[in-house]
Amino acid sequence: MPLSMNLVTTVATPDPRLSAVRALNRVLPGKGDGESLREVLRDFPLQGSDGGQMRDICFGVCRHLRPLNHWLNQQLSKPLKGSAQPVRLALLAGLYELWFSNRPAHAIVNAYPQLCRKLKAPWAAGLSNAVLRKASQITLEQAVADAPINIQLSLPDWLFKRWEKDWPNNADAMARANLQTPPFTLRVNRQQQQRADAIAALGEGARAGYIAPYSIYLQPARPVLQLPGFEQGALSVQDEAAQLPAELLQAPAKGRILDACAAPGGKTGQLREKFPAADLSALELEGKRLARIRENLARLGTDVTLLQGDASDPKTWWDGTPFDAILLDAPCSATGILRRQPDVKWHRKASDIGVLVDLQARMLDALWPLLKPGGMLVYATCSVLRDENDHQVRNFLQRQPQARDVTPRPEGATMVDAGWQLFPEQHGPDGFYLACLRKESGAQLSS
Ligand SMILES: C[S@@+](CC[C@H](N)C(=O)[O-])C[C@H]1O[C@@H](n2cnc3c(N)ncnc32)[C@H](O)[C@@H]1O
Repeated sequence: MPLSMNLVTTVATPDPRLSAVRALNRVLPGKGDGESLREVLRDFPLQGSDGGQMRDICFGVCRHLRPLNHWLNQQLSKPLKGSAQPVRLALLAGLYELWFSNRPAHAIVNAYPQLCRKLKAPWAAGLSNAVLRKASQITLEQAVADAPINIQLSLPDWLFKRWEKDWPNNADAMARANLQTPPFTLRVNRQQQQRADAIAALGEGARAGYIAPYSIYLQPARPVLQLPGFEQGALSVQDEAAQLPAELLQAPAKGRILDACAAPGGKTGQLREKFPAADLSALELEGKRLARIRENLARLGTDVTLLQGDASDPKTWWDGTPFDAILLDAPCSATGILRRQPDVKWHRKASDIGVLVDLQARMLDALWPLLKPGGMLVYATCSVLRDENDHQVRNFLQRQPQARDVTPRPEGATMVDAGWQLFPEQHGPDGFYLACLRKESGAQLSS
């Protein structure tokens, strides 16, 4: 047999649609808790256009899950069994591709019956053909025109209600922004280059961010290894709003700084770039996530003191020497970054919020005594829920009379009880919250 024939018959081409359904089946298993989409995608290292198509389907189905499911359910004469979840996910993937991708409709309609056979569900081939053929005649807007608004906007009922309560004038716009593909944003390493030089080196499609001084938007996104100087640490991927907490943290150049809740180390690296001579420690609860901080710092060619421990229980990891500055990027609902992590909408439950709010308050109370008088603590979340953000900080300020809110509020910022709330904006930053809290210098350090 000629060599080329042999290769054709033995090298299996991975099917991006099949991989997408397999990945989605772990993220949205139908029953029980799903895994994080980001983590699952690490197990599917498809490259090039196949990888792009697979990731597009996974993110797209998670992002638009509710309206896709709503229309699909209306087409079924009887509900699909729980064991047919892979078939459901295949149909949702087909609907997503038809309504959101530029791939030809006939190719999509023809691909999915074959995919059902690959899923060992040949019984679903006819169903797939009928459903996708019908969908190809209409738009998603027509398909869900009569559905309630939170279904159209693909949000769980509890979350939409909370947004309506917290942001009565903004809930719809926030939901619509979260249906967009997020921008690709970079942070320039100020120790290696100027932002203007980095923009010039990136060339077409690169522009400066308008709030964070080292941020660059790049459209379209590029694989990181194609970014000039990425491997040498000259650039890092980081949303513009996420760059603000470390940017606004004030400390002496050689001060002692704690990055509490540090993994995977995006802000630790940024703090190192901003304070190269500081005594910087990064604290993280989960041991295996400490390794992620180490990897990220190695790419930047730097290091910090790594501590494993619980930020709400300093006696287990603190050496007793106070800090000049503390960054608390607290665990939160991640409701500000749903366009980047759309699976969070389906994994998060209403009952999680109270637990998070309680943990955040305990962390604030436990870390505050570790701050020197005159020092600054920046509290940040990637949430747009007021209980985690300005209400949390307002309550903290009431408990801690020596704490003063010194957060900058640029013109146009939404007025909240304390701190600065940013919302996801089309072509702009993620939803994010931060508060800069200064400890009055008359305050005593607790032991
Ligand atoms: C929002 S993420 C931090 C992101 C990070 N600052 C960055 O910029 O890359 C929150 C982190 O807090 C960690 N965490 C959760 N509970 C913690 C605790 N009690 N003490 C310390 N870290 C905790 C989580 O494992 C997670 O890595």
